[in-house]
Amino acid sequence: METYIFDWINLLLRWLHVIVGIAWIGASFYFVWLDNSLQKPTDPALKEKGVDGELWAVHGGGFYNPQKYMVAPKALPDHLHWFYWESYWTWMSGFALFVTLYLFNAQTFLIDKNVFAWGSSAAAIVASLVYLVMGWVVYDAICRLFGQRKNGDLIVGVLVFLYVIAATYIACHLFAGRAAFLLTGAMLATAMSANVLMVIIPGQKKTIAAMKSGQTPDPLHPMRAKQRSVHNTYFTLPVLFAMLSNHYSFAYSTPYNWLVLVLIMLAGALIRQFFVLKHKGRWEYKYWGVAGVILLGVAAWLAPAAKPSVAIAKAPQIAEIQAIIEARCAMCHNANVQMKNVALHTPELLVKNAQLIYQQVVVTRAMPMNNSTQITEEERAKIGAWVQAGGK
Ligand code: HEC
Repeated sequence: METYIFDWINLLLRWLHVIVGIAWIGASFYFVWLDNSLQKPTDPALKEKGVDGELWAVHGGGFYNPQKYMVAPKALPDHLHWFYWESYWTWMSGFALFVTLYLFNAQTFLIDKNVFAWGSSAAAIVASLVYLVMGWVVYDAICRLFGQRKNGDLIVGVLVFLYVIAATYIACHLFAGRAAFLLTGAMLATAMSANVLMVIIPGQKKTIAAMKSGQTPDPLHPMRAKQRSVHNTYFTLPVLFAMLSNHYSFAYSTPYNWLVLVLIMLAGALIRQFFVLKHKGRWEYKYWGVAGVILLGVAAWLAPAAKPSVAIAKAPQIAEIQAIIEARCAMCHNANVQMKNVALHTPELLVKNAQLIYQQVVVTRAMPMNNSTQITEEERAKIGAWVQAGGK
């Protein structure tokens, strides 16, 4: 019953998270596209008003004509729409989902004893939270220290990239692969939301306050906001991969999983770069080329071996399989505890779930979860041979 209630909380939070995430990333993609697609106005009246770029678009039966003012219009409009709730809700729902799934079930989802021997769940939980906060602290410090220097964008870009590699490495050596991927994504996503909360919105508020009191707004605020918002653009695809990666155990369950994550995130950032340039009218297919080579390379690298590492001469009988499942799986899949509604405590259930077991144990090797029950290669091969011989 408890698992069932958690599943519902999980479902509702995930539903919310995806919806607000779409709203946030959708708005963010739209504004990157808009900003890069604006054209200088030709109408003298617009120039006189202070319009720096404009665009005509047609959507849903209407014509739209957004105009961008640099730094701001001469007079502030009465109604100004702000974009931040999408970002805040995405973070809040994502964090709640992380707590429900990974922190309430830390022993199952967060900790993998084969990766790091945490003394207690509490220690691992605290470490995961520190990891999230540190991501923002270090990233923000890099931006503040180097962002406004000569070649600041380049220096910050390189340092942030190196930091992401280091952070990925650390996460993958402290937490279960699946949790490590999610945490790295969550760390970047936290930086994205904190960029909105701590830099972009306060900067905009200061600009408006300066205008209201008749002063010239400091151009540092829009410059900083722009820099952070550019980072957010390049984080988007990597973060989305990290969020979806929990469905693909082949990615996170290899010994060099940190490198897999770094490479796939890099491919995501390169693909984003293609689109950013495309909005400006430049079709630089080389970014797709490099991203494609990276993804194909990772796919080839992770391809499962054609044959199991242990050869089984004769397909085992079900009694032998039952003994293996009893030892390695039953603690999480029995009459009372049924992770993902899978029970495996009778021969009938084994026959019924034979294909599912084969996929999880032999093909993707996602089960036993984090190999917490220390299944051997020989036992995996035996399960494989049994299913291939008909699974009866
Ligand atoms: C430590 C607990 C634990 C052990 C041991 C364990 N599992 Fe699981 N199993 C889980 C959890 C948790 C899930 C749900 C994972 C998720 O939400 O993606 C799961 C899911 C599954 C699923 C459903 C996968 C899907 O996405 O449809 C199958 C099948 C499965 N396990 C089989 C096994 C087999 C076979 C073994 C033994 C070789 C095993 N499990 C051992 C915890 C465990």
